[in-house]
Formats: sequence, structure tokens, C-alpha cells
Amino acid sequence: MNVIRIPNVFQASATELPFPDNYFDAVFTDPPYYDNVPYSYLSDFFYVWLKRAIGDLYPELFSTPLTPKSKEIVAYTNNRSWEEAKEYFEEMLKKSFQEINRILKPNGIAVIVYAHKTTSGWETLINSLLDSGLVITASWPINTEMKARLRAKESAALASSIYIVCRKMERQPTGWFNEVKEELKKHLNKKLDRLWKEGISGADFFISAIGSAIEVFGKYEKVMDYEGNVIRADKLLEYVRELVTEKFESIAFSK
Ligand SMILES: C[S@@+](CC[C@H](N)C(=O)[O-])C[C@H]1O[C@@H](n2cnc3c(N)ncnc32)[C@H](O)[C@@H]1O
Repeated sequence: MNVIRIPNVFQASATELPFPDNYFDAVFTDPPYYDNVPYSYLSDFFYVWLKRAIGDLYPELFSTPLTPKSKEIVAYTNNRSWEEAKEYFEEMLKKSFQEINRILKPNGIAVIVYAHKTTSGWETLINSLLDSGLVITASWPINTEMKARLRAKESAALASSIYIVCRKMERQPTGWFNEVKEELKKHLNKKLDRLWKEGISGADFFISAIGSAIEVFGKYEKVMDYEGNVIRADKLLEYVRELVTEKFESIAFSK
């Protein structure tokens, strides 16, 4: 017999989820991509019409004249500096990943989709993930975008998004940067060959390498150098960029 399950839909900020600890087997999320899309401002266009048409049916969802903006996780620079926007985004994303970790059952799985062309956009995601407690176990690029979409017109937009798979489990304590570098080199060498064969190229190749690198350093609570300095995403990504450039040149010139 077919059982029809009616899903429950809730509206809340990702930074304050209305669920108890250890509640879900899996969480799947597509968070905002740094400064890519001003979601709430775009939503205003539809919101004012929806409010007129169905506002009386869902008064709690349409209580404000325009969409609420104060808890939106976007790196806006219209009211703050670049540095402040980046800090705000990183902090809010960290809170929402910590919430995911809290509501997942032990060994539960989280899939986080992300796409951004700039290292800055990735730095914030990686720092937030490293501080969330989640352990990254895999990452794959998946072609998700239509070539003809408006966002791709006259811009070098990415064709793929990176699907980052995480678990709620114990992390390995400290990874030593020198050893992590060796591990990264070996891992990226293999994985980039595979991705290249599967047709990932251009900007997507570099971005997929970042995803693959997270598989290595995302399993440690923190990465440190021998002098005791904590290595954050900017340093890790600098090294990944060197490795990808080397790999790209070796693949491109061997043809
Ligand atoms: C990449 S988009 C998701 C797009 C969606 N997967 C789709 O296909 O339509 C990110 C979404 O996160 C929402 N968002 C921003 N801040 C949020 C917050 N604090 N809590 C929950 N969602 C938020 C944005 O409004 C936007 O809809």
C-alpha cells in the first residue's frame, strides 16, 4: 500500500532552527552564495503582489510591507564595507552550520551546495565550515546551471555547483600543515585527473579543486603549523591554487 506523507513546511532563519538537538537523519541545504544574488530585494518584486493576493491567508508570513532583511545571510556592501560584509556573512553562515550540526543525529548526514567564482567567497564558506563542528567527507561538482540562464549572459558564470557532504561525527584533532600539504598534493593529483576526464574545465576545474581540498583539511578540528599558528582558509586556498595551476599546466601541455 502506498503511504502518502504530507511534509511539514516551517519558516525560520537558518541561524535559529526551531528543532531539538539530534533530531534529523539528514539536512540538505543550498545556502546563499556570498554576494552573488540580492535575494530579498529580488523577492520584494513578487512579495508585494503575493501579499495582496494571499496575505490574508498567511498573515504571519506577510506582516511587513517588504521582505524582512535584517537576518538575511548575504555579503551586502550597500550599508557596510567589504571587510564588514565578509565578516558578517562568515559569522551568519557559521551559525547556520552550527545549527545543522546541533539538530543532526549522531552520524547524520548534511549536504551543502555552494558555488562562487572568487576565492573570497570560498574562504568565508570554508572558515564557517571549519568552525561548525561538521566533518566534511566528500565533495563533487554537479552541472546544475542552464547555459542560457540570465545570470550567465555576458559573464563567465560557473556551470557547476559543488555538493559538499558532511557528517556529524568526531573530528581528528590537529592536522599539521606540512603533512596536510603532502596529503593535499596526493589527493588533488588523483581527483583532478578524474574530474578533467569527466569534462570539468575552466573556472569549474579550479572551483572543483577547492571542493576536493576541503575533503582533506575538513576532517581536522584545526590545521596548525609547527610554530602553533592556526592555518585558516586563506592560506589553505593559496596552496590549493598553486597545486591546481601546476596540475592544469601539466595536463594542458601534455596534449
Ligand atoms: C542559493 S539560494 C537557494 C535557492 C533554492 N535552492 C532554489 O532553487 O530556489 C539561498 C536562499 O537562502 C535564503 N536565505 C538567506 N538568508 C537566510 C536565513 N537567514 N535563513 C534562511 N534562509 C536564508 C535566501 O533568501 C535564498 O532564497
